[in-house]
Amino acid sequence: MAGPDLAARFQRGFLAGRPLRSLPWAELEQNLQTSAGSSLLSDILHKTILHPLGVKYPPSIKYRRCFLTQLIKKHESTAAEPLDELYELLAGILNGEECTHCYKNYLLPTGDSVTLSESLAIVSGGTTGLVTWDAALHLAEWALENNTIFTSRTVLELGSGIGFTGIAICKSCKPRTYIFSDYHPSVLKQLTQNIHLNSFVPEPGTTHCTPLESQGLEGEAMNDQNPKVVVAELDWGCVPEKQLLDLQADVVIAADVVYDPEIISALIGMLQKLRAGRKPPEVFIASTIRNPDTYQLFQAQLGKAGIRWQIIPAPTTRIFPCDMQPNVSLLQLFI
Ligand SMILES: C[S@@+](CC[C@H](N)C(=O)[O-])C[C@H]1O[C@@H](n2cnc3c(N)ncnc32)[C@H](O)[C@@H]1O
Repeated sequence: MAGPDLAARFQRGFLAGRPLRSLPWAELEQNLQTSAGSSLLSDILHKTILHPLGVKYPPSIKYRRCFLTQLIKKHESTAAEPLDELYELLAGILNGEECTHCYKNYLLPTGDSVTLSESLAIVSGGTTGLVTWDAALHLAEWALENNTIFTSRTVLELGSGIGFTGIAICKSCKPRTYIFSDYHPSVLKQLTQNIHLNSFVPEPGTTHCTPLESQGLEGEAMNDQNPKVVVAELDWGCVPEKQLLDLQADVVIAADVVYDPEIISALIGMLQKLRAGRKPPEVFIASTIRNPDTYQLFQAQLGKAGIRWQIIPAPTTRIFPCDMQPNVSLLQLFI
């Protein structure tokens, strides 16, 4: 009986809006041949479209329509009684109006979840920052397995995009202060909305790398449960060294920021500025290796800048659904 596990796999994939082809349809088909087929379908519906997160923060209309159509097809290919609920749900969304954004929900091992509002386009408004990339999932999985690196520390994230990694870390690893950063105005806007969506309130007026002391951010967080959250507008190419050092980061992380030869030197130049602090931070960078030449260029430029690096073993457990073979590598840099 693959029932509950199979329904849970549909749940993780559906709530996170993963490509429909990546859901376990073949296994569903096999299971539907058994007498428990209809109750399995009903279980899947309640864990996906009818799940409280799926209702409040649903994937796009098109996604839900294709999902239900596929479920109906699978159901109709069996000799089972028609399941009215399937047709009623489909009828309910057929006339819905599509918008430019959808929601994605990622379930955390703690039972909590990360909800993000995302753009439906992979590259929109001239930025790659409005969707969550596989390296962000990988970095969060690694962080959850190594949470002591983050607990009670000040974490600076570079190129945060719309915030998946940081929100997962804030909810699971108890950092003292978490500084999300990016340089693109639309990304910063969406990032701030997503932080609010997950019940964190960024410190007011912190978008320009204001020193932590002047924001009263030094010392203990006001509340034991929640980290202080800051959203900083930070452009690697032009952030002044003093502003960077004033953030007093203990740990610096970034996901999918090594994808374009043109931005590599700005990134490395910024990392070099962090050297001048009292105690250089620990730095971890997760990258999807799409073009090996770009990645080698990054490593070569690190060498030229005198930054040593080591490969960090991949997380042992898959928590968030992502592509079968994401070619993600995690490096620790010694700046
Ligand atoms: C591929 S996205 C990765 C977003 C997120 N970390 C993730 O993995 O889902 C790259 C991010 O780096 C940001 N970025 C690119 N160049 C930057 C720069 N010079 N300064 C700051 N952020 C930059 C982009 O705005 C974008 O959000």
